[in-house]
Amino acid sequence: MPAMRLDKLLTQLGCGSRKEVGALIRSGRVTVDGAPVRDPACKTDPETAVVVVDGRPQRYQAQRYFMLNKPAGVITASRDGRHQTVLELFPASQRRGLFAVGRLDKDTEGLLIVTDDGALSHALMSPARHVDKVYEAVVEGALVPDAADRFAAGLTLRDGTVCLPAVLERLPDRAEQTVRVTLREGKYHQVKRMIAAVGGTVVHLRRVWLGGLALDPSLAPGAFRALTDAELALLQGQERDGKKEF
Ligand code: URA
Repeated sequence: MPAMRLDKLLTQLGCGSRKEVGALIRSGRVTVDGAPVRDPACKTDPETAVVVVDGRPQRYQAQRYFMLNKPAGVITASRDGRHQTVLELFPASQRRGLFAVGRLDKDTEGLLIVTDDGALSHALMSPARHVDKVYEAVVEGALVPDAADRFAAGLTLRDGTVCLPAVLERLPDRAEQTVRVTLREGKYHQVKRMIAAVGGTVVHLRRVWLGGLALDPSLAPGAFRALTDAELALLQGQERDGKKEF
């Protein structure tokens, strides 16, 4: 791979917009092969150079993988005439080729993987793979006493759709009535419809886990970061190992 400008490389690695990484480099927080570099235009070989930002080594990957904490009010799409999209949370210089893995409703928050790796996305979202997705839902209304058993048995939704077995747990330490729901599939509005089928209404929904990966608690809604090597390995393990049963 040919050498590229250091600011372009850091942008591709998810370290910020071109302007932000330019400032980062000029302030002396970036080293290349052990030496501080203050010139954003410095030619750098992405595959061989050891680039360190604030003491953290950055590794170039031909494909890009990000964890986004999706905020409410933003739609899971690349482009939309009316609403802000999850891709618009990324600097324009970084967006090319990226897409979200699966989708969350406009009012749902939490963990969304954004990548340009179509094969990984397909593997994680394929209904046949049964990759775990965990949600925390604030619920209003009284759930039927056997709600968890009905989830475990494979719930039938109000329109007759039959769901795969799922796990429903109450989180008694929370101020509001909150449940944790673990699914192995991703039907339209699935958590909201499952909770409705057992007597409740979801008033707030957040995904906290996907395919072995937990939402990073340090990511504020709207913030994203590149996946670490270990996190990527976890997702790639799901790609290979899917299809486990509860
Ligand atoms: N289930 C829902 O109801 N909404 C989401 O966004 C995700 C899962």
